[in-house]
Amino acid sequence: MSDNQHLEHMEHDRGTWGSNFGFLMAAVGSAVGLGNIWGFPYKMGNKGGFAFLIIYLLLVIFVGVVVMLGELTIGRKTGKGAVGAYAALSKKYKWVGYLGILSAFTLLAFYNVLGGLVMRYMFGFLLQILGVDGFSGAGMGFFGYILYDYSGMIFFHVLFIVCNVVIVMGGIQGGIEKFCTVAMPALFFMLLFVIIYVAFQPGAGEGYKFMLTPNFEPLSSFGGFIDVLKTAAGQMFFSLSLGMGAIISYGSYLDKKEDLQKNALIIPACDTLIAVMAACAILPACAAFNMEYAQGPGLLFNTMQNVFLSMGSFGNFVGFMFYFLVFIAAVTSSISLFEAIVTWRLDVGIEKKQKVSRTKIMSIAAVCSFIVGIPVALDALGAADAVVKAPYLLLGMTPEQLAAGQVPMAIDCWLDFFDVISEGIFMPLGALIMAVLIGWKWKTRNLIVPECEISGHKFWGYTFFDICFKFITPIGMILVLGGQIYDFFIKALIA
Ligand code: PFF
Repeated sequence: MSDNQHLEHMEHDRGTWGSNFGFLMAAVGSAVGLGNIWGFPYKMGNKGGFAFLIIYLLLVIFVGVVVMLGELTIGRKTGKGAVGAYAALSKKYKWVGYLGILSAFTLLAFYNVLGGLVMRYMFGFLLQILGVDGFSGAGMGFFGYILYDYSGMIFFHVLFIVCNVVIVMGGIQGGIEKFCTVAMPALFFMLLFVIIYVAFQPGAGEGYKFMLTPNFEPLSSFGGFIDVLKTAAGQMFFSLSLGMGAIISYGSYLDKKEDLQKNALIIPACDTLIAVMAACAILPACAAFNMEYAQGPGLLFNTMQNVFLSMGSFGNFVGFMFYFLVFIAAVTSSISLFEAIVTWRLDVGIEKKQKVSRTKIMSIAAVCSFIVGIPVALDALGAADAVVKAPYLLLGMTPEQLAAGQVPMAIDCWLDFFDVISEGIFMPLGALIMAVLIGWKWKTRNLIVPECEISGHKFWGYTFFDICFKFITPIGMILVLGGQIYDFFIKALIA
């Protein structure tokens, strides 16, 4: 093969999805993740149940679907990942693409560690099934124990990243699509099984009441409303994988004949369904086992550990299934973050007519993400006696100040540090800039409508989308960004 032929061949090798269903499973796989199963139930538990649910649903409709359509369109129109796509639309805005890549790395820093934790629980139950104590005698206190098991934290961190490498190396159709097409339906049915099991536990009914009884008390003051709004919005971005280039990359591999608007509706609908289903498993389980709804981030691990260990040997089996399900949710999300990075480098290689290897790019991305994740894995969620010190300790603040609520959330541990940067700032900022660029510069009529209509489907709801791009999304994002910056950085300092 001559060099030219080889390059042409490589360009064709960038890859496409095999079918719209395959694309949907991958995109829903990206969206459905720890955000749904770990984040949504605990945030709903913290922020008053029903009121949170309603605000969340409104945000999905007015912001989520709109930004999703924007990202899919930008990706498919340019046929490039985030950096290449923004550069193709306007050289001046290439940096917005880099912002996406940066957020992908900051998110991976803690997502891989959480994925590793999930794998540790999964192996724990597997060992239990085999008759070995999989939780080192720590039983229900395992969450506290594992954080100090540094070699275990690193081992499972690496193992989770290796799973990503194997899938992403397989390419778009042979790796990501193939895996997600099997994994996502499996996840749905396993979750359904857990919901049905929990529903039969005495006392579970209280949990449904908490979720579904109309109660607008948390929204009765302006401050309360903003508090619920920003938590729900941060959650929505994170959950829908928006604002960081993952959806742009997935869109770039989509065939021109596919209906973008339909996809932009189906992905958020499935994601929301799974989040609500996860809450339907975890909050009633909380009620049945007399545990607090407002437990914060430990909710998933602590509550479910109680459920499974109380079920005797059958619990080992259900526990394994459950963590396997959470693992699938996590890995189908992290591969999309890696893919955002891989697509960026592939595009650069193709543009410069250089030889590019997906395997090499992915391996480098994996090593980099491992390195940034090390402090997250080793700081025992900010404990003062951990081997790696949390940011607040490095800055000379004390555990007493932490206990008194005087340490900003952004620096209380490395997980929050990376989470605040990505979910709290980069993601809404990315969405804000994109919405403003589409609404005011590139224009819904000139950019979004023609690309959506290429497939032969008529664009519907023009006024709705245009108003959302121009006003609703930007205003919402400014409120959210302001609220989050105050919450994560400032609130504690003036306490
Ligand atoms: N949506 C994923 C979740 O809910 O866990 C997280 C995520 C994946 C965010 C990919 C962003 C992203 F690009």
